[in-house]
Amino acid sequence: MRKVLHAFAALADLGEEIAETNDFEEMVRSALHVVLGALGIRRGAVAEFEREASALRVVATRGFGEAFPPEVSSLLKIDSAHADAHTNGAGPHISSSQGVSRLEREIKGLFACGEVEVVMPLVVRGELVGAIMLGGKARGDSFSTEDREVIRSLGRHIGVGLHNHRLLREVERRAVENRKLYEDLKAIYKDTVRAFAVAIDCKDKYTQGHSERVGKYSEIIARELGWSEEEVEGIAIAGYLHDIGKLIVDRDIINAPYPIDAKKSSELNRHPAAGYEILRPIKHPFADIPLMARYHHERPDGRGYPDGLKDEEIPLGAKIVSLADSFDAMTTDRPYRRRRSFVEVLADFRRNAGQQFSPAVVAALCRALL
Ligand SMILES: [Fe+2]
Repeated sequence: MRKVLHAFAALADLGEEIAETNDFEEMVRSALHVVLGALGIRRGAVAEFEREASALRVVATRGFGEAFPPEVSSLLKIDSAHADAHTNGAGPHISSSQGVSRLEREIKGLFACGEVEVVMPLVVRGELVGAIMLGGKARGDSFSTEDREVIRSLGRHIGVGLHNHRLLREVERRAVENRKLYEDLKAIYKDTVRAFAVAIDCKDKYTQGHSERVGKYSEIIARELGWSEEEVEGIAIAGYLHDIGKLIVDRDIINAPYPIDAKKSSELNRHPAAGYEILRPIKHPFADIPLMARYHHERPDGRGYPDGLKDEEIPLGAKIVSLADSFDAMTTDRPYRRRRSFVEVLADFRRNAGQQFSPAVVAALCRALL
């Protein structure tokens, strides 16, 4: 009896660990050894019922040797409807030579091994979570009523451990699913943004790929400024979308030969505010994207548009997109002028730092490219 009490104490400790441990199988093996040791049984096994596969998977065995190799019997099909019929509302029970339940018989049949004397389905809250299979007692005695009580109690304990482990796995599985769902949505958002970038650039026959490049340059600058990965992703998207307001500007105005008259110019200059209005109703993963579109033509000296903001009023993200925008405009061919070299353009930026561009942002671009 002392041995049995000791076994209970050992299992109480194991119960907690079964739910928490990564080495779940090791814990089940230990629990099985406790049961076998407490009752003087040479052979035994614990199987877990896997709902998805509708199968019993042997988690731990002892003493069956080649007759019970877990790798062979690791997935034994069991009819789940059948299992439900037996387990719904029924507590765990122990087989007897007179009246074994169908489930017990079935499990015994699955583990076609003559040396299994006792089969105990493990049922928690009406659900089959596993089974314990035990061989005869080492001294050849038959199982007493007391032995069966002990097996039932220890089995309930192991069953709760299996059940907790199942819940934990379920939580983990859902976490993985949610993560995947989030990644998928993010990918859809990014693809949509890219599609818009292409649509924006299509309106202007001279700026193929401009928006995507502005996104890339913005990303480089933000990374150089030590922004987090999430913020860097956000600024790249702001770069892709900064000119989205051009979608509402007439194509003839966008493509008008340089220099354009005042009327056309003011029409064209509507695009940052229009972009803000287009982007504002969308719930972006990166909240400042509409503002970056609105302020990408603002200047630290206050001579920018649409709001004529002063240096400290312009968000850093908008300053980054602004510089990336000018950098791409100056390093690509335009109808009114040839592209200039990186070095020339950066020298120009340095001269204009504080007026048209933020000095800190210019310095970051220079550091990243030179
Ligand atoms: Fe623009």
